[in-house]
Amino acid sequence: MDCGDDPWGRSVTDFLVSDALEQQQLLGNKTTLFYYDEDLVGYVTLAASLLELRQAQQVARQPGIEDIGRDSFPSVLIARFGVHKDHQRKGYGRRIFDWALAEVIQGSVGARLLILHVDKENRGGRGFWKACGFRSGGGAKNILMWLDLYPFVADDQPKD
Ligand SMILES: CC(C)(COP(=O)(O)OP(=O)(O)OC[C@H]1O[C@@H](n2cnc3c(N)ncnc32)[C@H](O)[C@@H]1OP(=O)(O)O)[C@@H](O)C(=O)NCCC(=O)NCCS
Repeated sequence: MDCGDDPWGRSVTDFLVSDALEQQQLLGNKTTLFYYDEDLVGYVTLAASLLELRQAQQVARQPGIEDIGRDSFPSVLIARFGVHKDHQRKGYGRRIFDWALAEVIQGSVGARLLILHVDKENRGGRGFWKACGFRSGGGAKNILMWLDLYPFVADDQPKD
């Protein structure tokens, strides 16, 4: 698996090769691999997390957030995310993201937000997450990005 020669591509490649299995065995996070035919095309690593309101003030303006009545919100952290360099810009990243979104929304553990950190210089990564609907929070070098999951389920909620 080779996610490219830039620092972010190398970082997600190195994580998969060197750290993913050990971290999963220690229950720090979980990695899911995605194949097309026999080819490994990408992966995502997810971990339980919390977003503190002070990290992204805009979250406070999301519908219903005040009613949860907490200063931090149950979240899932996209800890790593990579697509093989030969398969980038073919829609695989979007499909892997859609899988992760469904996994979190349909799972039996509540999470209001998806969050991740992206290097300010990683224009490709930032463009991708923006295209997936993420908004930018704080951070100078590592920018926090977040996605409110409530709009994805709002229409399915029972009415009074
Ligand atoms: C970022 C990454 C995951 C995107 O995966 P991908 O499979 O190439 O993305 P997709 O083909 O599904 O792109 C979906 C949309 O995201 C946006 N996008 C994707 N790559 C982009 C880039 N390099 N620059 C700007 N926008 C981009 C586009 O809007 C794209 O739609 P379009 O191709 O119709 O214009 C992949 O390039 C990668 O693994 N990069 C190296 C590791 C990395 O940076 N990981 C993220 C760290 S937070």
